[in-house]
Amino acid sequence: MIDLFPVFGPLLRSLDPEVAHTLTLRLLEAGLAPRLCDREEPRLRQRLWGLDFPNPVGIAAGFDKNAEVVGPLLSLGFGFVEAGTVTPKPQPGNPRPRCFRLTGQQAMINRFGFNNQGLEAVARRLATRRRRHRRGVVGANIGRNKDSVDAIGDYVAGVYALAALADYLVINVSSPNTPGLRALQDREPLAELLAAVLAARAELCLKRTPALLLKIAPDLTSDDLAAIAEVSLEAGLDGLIVSNTTIGRPGLDGVAGASETGGLSGRPLFESSTRVLSEIYRLTGGRLPLIGVGGIASAEDAYAKIRAGASLVQVYTALIYQGPRLVRDIRRGLPALLERDGFATLTAAVGADHR
Ligand SMILES: Cc1cc2nc3c(=O)[nH]c(=O)nc-3n(C[C@H](O)[C@H](O)[C@H](O)COP(=O)(O)O)c2cc1C
Repeated sequence: MIDLFPVFGPLLRSLDPEVAHTLTLRLLEAGLAPRLCDREEPRLRQRLWGLDFPNPVGIAAGFDKNAEVVGPLLSLGFGFVEAGTVTPKPQPGNPRPRCFRLTGQQAMINRFGFNNQGLEAVARRLATRRRRHRRGVVGANIGRNKDSVDAIGDYVAGVYALAALADYLVINVSSPNTPGLRALQDREPLAELLAAVLAARAELCLKRTPALLLKIAPDLTSDDLAAIAEVSLEAGLDGLIVSNTTIGRPGLDGVAGASETGGLSGRPLFESSTRVLSEIYRLTGGRLPLIGVGGIASAEDAYAKIRAGASLVQVYTALIYQGPRLVRDIRRGLPALLERDGFATLTAAVGADHR
């Protein structure tokens, strides 16, 4: 099917961002996803946590919060899909409007606040995929309910519900839109949280154990990052995702809409998220696989994340501005960049900036 984004894109961007997103999900669900991708390029394959990623470009959490369009997203050419964030109970999220485009900056601000259908609905959809032996790497990103009095209990419930149904699980402690959530990144609460979710996973004695990753914010100090690296390694976590949206507004002085409350994503996030990625790679000595996300809008951006220490990358906001062609462009552009720098495979380029 040909790419209709050049026609649909401007139309979608003329609509309210949330309406445009819902419409996009329905179009994907209806099978209107273009198949733009070439054959998989062997040099871009990655094997991590016992999983085979056909290419390193994934779609970040928040696009498919309820796991409704996992198959269509894989068909677009993504090497993996991360569903969620999903919380134990369904919840409506914050009042609308709660999502804003900053078109001139190729950015977004959102304060959705984990609107989602809850673990039961997401588990049902992922179970259907498993039953039908659908191919492709699928992760599930889990969070806590806004009104929960037991945050750790919510994450443990997420592990119990989804561990048998996802290839990897992400403990999301970095959304800026749930009060108190990011405090779970502090040393003691984080150690307690990681011990609890890892124990829950072990207790399940699964044949296929999902990797457990932690997704962190870009707004952390060097001391915070050192603590996260230490606690993650000590606990035996499998990897980190760097990063979520930022509460900062870098370079956005005087930009209309920049004062909206929420997390900023897209181009202006690239620099800080890549800096934190690089720092975490250094602090963990490359011992923990990292997923780099934040402001990727080209193959060059993806490659910069890989050189900084990412084994895989994810995109979200740039898709809104460039459409699904972005996935193909990154996949086509990466081999040339590897060749230019003399790397035979993508794996060989991971963390190259640190050598
Ligand atoms: C509209 C929107 C909703 C998001 N929802 C979530 C979410 O539910 N959970 C999560 O971990 N990250 C969420 N994110 C953050 C993205 O997964 C990603 O970390 C961030 O947007 C940076 O990548 P980007 O600059 O390519 O968009 C959301 C981002 C956007 C733009």
